[in-house]
Amino acid sequence: MRKIAIVGFKGGIGKTTTCVNLGAALALRGHKVLLIDTDTQANLAVSLGIKDYKTSLADVLIRKVSAQDTIIPARKNLDLLPSSLKLFKAQQRMVLEMAREEIFDELFAGLNHNGYDYQILDCAPSLSLLTINSIVYVDEVIIPVSMEMLALSGAQQFMDYLKEIGRVLGRSAEIRLIVPTMYDPRRRVSKQVVKLLKSLGPRVAKPIRVDTQLSEAPGYGKTIYEHAPRSRGAVDYARLTETVASLPPLVPSNNSKPQPTVRVR
Ligand SMILES: Nc1ncnc2c1ncn2[C@@H]1O[C@H](COP(=O)(O)OP(=O)(O)O)[C@@H](O)[C@H]1O
Ligand SMILES: [Mg+2]
Repeated sequence: MRKIAIVGFKGGIGKTTTCVNLGAALALRGHKVLLIDTDTQANLAVSLGIKDYKTSLADVLIRKVSAQDTIIPARKNLDLLPSSLKLFKAQQRMVLEMAREEIFDELFAGLNHNGYDYQILDCAPSLSLLTINSIVYVDEVIIPVSMEMLALSGAQQFMDYLKEIGRVLGRSAEIRLIVPTMYDPRRRVSKQVVKLLKSLGPRVAKPIRVDTQLSEAPGYGKTIYEHAPRSRGAVDYARLTETVASLPPLVPSNNSKPQPTVRVR
């Protein structure tokens, strides 16, 4: 089982889009996938067309329900642990808890025995305790970067931040992939940003091209494979999914945690 967080310091860089469509493509390939929304904006449920759910991560955080009981089947092989606006308030209580950076480890422990092949966490673009918990809980992170210079510096800052978490907490996650998003081959800045990304160190995936179908799909509560299966976005996310699936897992299949080391490549 692989645990991956989709992270980045900037909003609007394609984190949620990547989470939904990578998750959907893995599910279509027959993997059992759980998406966990840790962003107070709760975009994953909307993107998947799920409304009127009663409990969310906010209720799990205040120990009102278990993570298990909050999971909603979204598609074949694709489950969702949704967020809600209430998460904003619930996260404030995290500050007062013991081992507050490892709360997800405790709350999600039961999920490791659910037969999931992948748990994918969508993160907020902030330095909140929710984000720190996500990084500590997962083994791998994927950083989407949109084709702007500011997004590039956001990625660099995030890499430094991961190192800092590793230094302070003695454990962190490995950056498996940087994913260029909203790539427009006609714009020089796209090529410049990708070139600079390649000098950062971690592996850079083939870009996700800019595609209006990708931005329209969430409005219909659909994944790109349901909304426009022949679109550029569908092709690019399928290719990204192949890349992600072909990366060797970092932890043995008995789900034990990796050694507490920082591994930023
Ligand atoms: N490759 C793309 N082409 C066009 N629009 C995109 C693409 N990726 C994401 N978008 C759109 O850009 C906006 C921000 O993306 P989103 O995934 O929500 O970013 P984040 O989660 O990082 O804030 C959304 O409206 C989304 O639909
Ligand atoms: Mg988002």
